[in-house]
Amino acid sequence: MTNPAQPAKRPVNPRFSSGPCAKIPTFELAKLADAPLGRSHRAAVGKAKLKAAIDGTREILGVPDDYRIGIVPASDTGAVEMAMWSLLGARKTTMVAWESFGAGWVTDAVKQLKIDAEVKTAEYGQIVDMAAIDYDTDVVFTWNGTTSGVRMPHGDMIPADRAGLTICDATSAAFAMDLPWDKLDVVTFSWQKVMGGEAAHGMLILSPRAVERLESYTPVWPLPKIFRMTKGGKLIEGIFKGETINTPSMLAVEDYLLALDWARDIGGLQALIARCDANAAVIARFCAANDWIANLAEDPATASTTSVCLKFTDPTITDGAAFAKAVAKRLEAEGVALDIGAYRDAPAGLRIWCGATVETADLEALMPWLDWAYHAERAALDAAA
Ligand SMILES: Cc1ncc(COP(=O)(O)O)c(C=O)c1O
Repeated sequence: MTNPAQPAKRPVNPRFSSGPCAKIPTFELAKLADAPLGRSHRAAVGKAKLKAAIDGTREILGVPDDYRIGIVPASDTGAVEMAMWSLLGARKTTMVAWESFGAGWVTDAVKQLKIDAEVKTAEYGQIVDMAAIDYDTDVVFTWNGTTSGVRMPHGDMIPADRAGLTICDATSAAFAMDLPWDKLDVVTFSWQKVMGGEAAHGMLILSPRAVERLESYTPVWPLPKIFRMTKGGKLIEGIFKGETINTPSMLAVEDYLLALDWARDIGGLQALIARCDANAAVIARFCAANDWIANLAEDPATASTTSVCLKFTDPTITDGAAFAKAVAKRLEAEGVALDIGAYRDAPAGLRIWCGATVETADLEALMPWLDWAYHAERAALDAAA
């Protein structure tokens, strides 16, 4: 085997982390100068910014007018926990997981809330049969499994006339994939994924049926203040107009507004989706052309277009974890790819973020480097043998 020479071209931006993700391509700190820093978030200027973040989210994502959108504490985790703690327990629950984040929600429902849930899981690389689920139960699932790179191909399996609620962690899917709003009652995400925003807050989107549940059901367990969305049996509407439960970061809000402006400028949701699709396609072509690497997602229809997870399939590699780590380290040392090791709980391999803020040209520039790093590590193995 001959080793390829070091490629001449480097990605302009080597940031391929799956979160926090690359900032928008036009990002400059100076563009956040309009943030109302040092002002109360309850002053008119702060409230207007928070409302603009909600309105911009609705506009870009195409969220129906009768769905509520709230900015909540503690990032995506905060939004998911808030939904689970506030809504679950009213009817039977189905918990679905095909990677570690979904598994975390299963643990919380079963071990913390002690819900006697039906638990459906699949191995890394596979997906649960979403058509075989009883949607008259409440169903909690993750649209895009960030640590396995397996996503829902669409929402056709979810009936529009279900009796249960669908609670969907969409943090690495929102702004990257079409979300069928009529099939989803709760959608959560954070700002630091596909939009390259700053980590802090979670977004919680509620369908009218989710609101109906909130107003008609009180869980048996206590709810801390940061999870409470109702008062006296009525929804606290202010939360969904920008009156946040506790203090938000106005710098993070400004940054999110900048990202929404960028999304609008490039053509909105379809343009964002197209960027992710084009990015993931670069890696798909590379995998197709090389027999030593493959997508962890077994069915291409379920392969993520944001968190693309890869495994080395070269049968002569005996310690897969060490090999993948060495490849990632080599690429990082060259400054061509930062933070692309597989998630700690996932099978050994690489994870390359392909979200909308990543430039396709940078992924194209990275692929020859991946080829170079693989061959360099293979040569090192051969030399040691
Ligand atoms: C699918 C999924 N859920 C939840 C989280 C946790 O998100 P956060 O750190 O925003 O709470 C992540 C983070 O990567 C994720 O990918």
